[in-house]
Amino acid sequence: MAANYAKAAFHTSTERLREVLDLAQPKPTDLALDVATGTGNTALALAPFVRRVVGLDLTREMLAHACRLTAERSVANAEWVLGDASRLPFADDSFDLYTVRAAPHHFTDFDGFLSEAMRVLKPGAGAAFVDCAAPPAAREVLHEVELRRDPSHVRSLTVMEWTERLERAGFVVEVATSREMDWDFEDWMGNMAVAPDLAADLASVIEAAEGEARKELHPVRREGKLWHAYWHCLIRARKPE
Ligand SMILES: C[S@@+](CC[C@H](N)C(=O)[O-])C[C@H]1O[C@@H](n2cnc3c(N)ncnc32)[C@H](O)[C@@H]1O
Repeated sequence: MAANYAKAAFHTSTERLREVLDLAQPKPTDLALDVATGTGNTALALAPFVRRVVGLDLTREMLAHACRLTAERSVANAEWVLGDASRLPFADDSFDLYTVRAAPHHFTDFDGFLSEAMRVLKPGAGAAFVDCAAPPAAREVLHEVELRRDPSHVRSLTVMEWTERLERAGFVVEVATSREMDWDFEDWMGNMAVAPDLAADLASVIEAAEGEARKELHPVRREGKLWHAYWHCLIRARKPE
């Protein structure tokens, strides 16, 4: 699976990595933390723009892949730490920048993750949060598909829910938007090596959506392949001074 994430269209797209850099606004003096770094796509994109970046993940196999990429690309300012987003092995007020991308929907302790992000950031430091975030009308349809595609999926929040949870955790939310993508269903299933029968079942869940959910998802077949809408939240927040 690690190899799939290291080459997945969304995760490695230059445009999508640029988007997270634009949100994160890294500075050359920053010590940055990228949580749930996976194979290190976001951390390695940050590396040229910060003093040092630490990528943390719960899965040893993902970090082993990140280590290999670091060596192949001769990156000298990235390091990899095994750990849990909701119990970070770092001191209070130690990072200038916090990022997390395409992962909070897996977290079983969402409030713990936010309070740890707050704890390890220095006062006044910024954070970028990018995760799948469907509009309310399409959320339940996508939730069913996400859970059956990958049982480690827990829940995607809407942008409004993200804002509420971040503010409750003490963050000042500076930007909170959502971005729609034209989503390649087959490629998405391929990332998780979903069996063909299950992938066909999940395609029919999307194509059977009705009413507002269908309007939002607007599924379409192009040359036999299913495409539909998919959303991420793009959030920038700050720990108060
Ligand atoms: C889709 S991948 C992340 C992709 C990566 N952030 C990127 O930008 O390409 C999701 C990652 O979340 C990690 N993960 C899930 N729960 C976690 C937790 N509680 N703490 C840290 N990492 C976690 C998984 O091990 C996996 O590597």
